[in-house]
Amino acid sequence: PIFKQAEFYITVKSAEKILKPVYPEVAFLGRSNVGKSSLINAVLGKKNLALTSSSPGKTRGINYFLVDKKYFFVDLPGYGFAKISKSERLKWQKLIESYLLQSKLLKILCLLIDSRRDIMESDAQMVDWLQYQEKPFFIVLTKTDKLSKNQLRQVIKKYQDFFPDNHILPFSIKDKKLIADTALFIKKALN
Ligand code: GTP
Ligand code: MG
Repeated sequence: PIFKQAEFYITVKSAEKILKPVYPEVAFLGRSNVGKSSLINAVLGKKNLALTSSSPGKTRGINYFLVDKKYFFVDLPGYGFAKISKSERLKWQKLIESYLLQSKLLKILCLLIDSRRDIMESDAQMVDWLQYQEKPFFIVLTKTDKLSKNQLRQVIKKYQDFFPDNHILPFSIKDKKLIADTALFIKKALN
């Protein structure tokens, strides 16, 4: 396996408690329900390390996982989830922003986008912001098991045209090869 050992470390719910930089970090960002927590589990080869749910808004707060005693995997709350109050949404937004601005050892961000959806305004905004902040990131198109080969080809092309400067990887929790590709890409970025 590409990553050998992983354990839950801490949940952080306010900006002051964001961890000081200790280990190289990879963070996972994307709309609610896109599959962030599922991807973390798949890449780490653990079933229920990060809690997943079929209803959006599962991950509240920032969850840190310590991997191989030398990296942090950081599961961020999802954005773009309509069914929570505006104040709650602003709170998570601010927390994500604080994390991104403070994390000096953030080596790479993994921006997840649902491969079945059209490019959403909130994702395009996030990409703009990440570019403006000069944060290194790559895009993962999730749930590609729901697409035909031909659809997948078209989707990848569409996203490559839209985000020409970024590395784009297809992903599915049901595809061992895609999981390994993503794990390897993350590992390289962490080192
Ligand atoms: P929040 O924590 O609410 O922001 O969501 P999340 O982005 O962490 O999503 P989560 O991993 O909880 O997954 C949401 C739903 O999508 C769950 O029902 C997962 O089983 C499902 N899912 C995630 N990845 C895949 C995938 O590759 N293929 C399929 N078919 N379903 C997936
Ligand atoms: Mg989650």
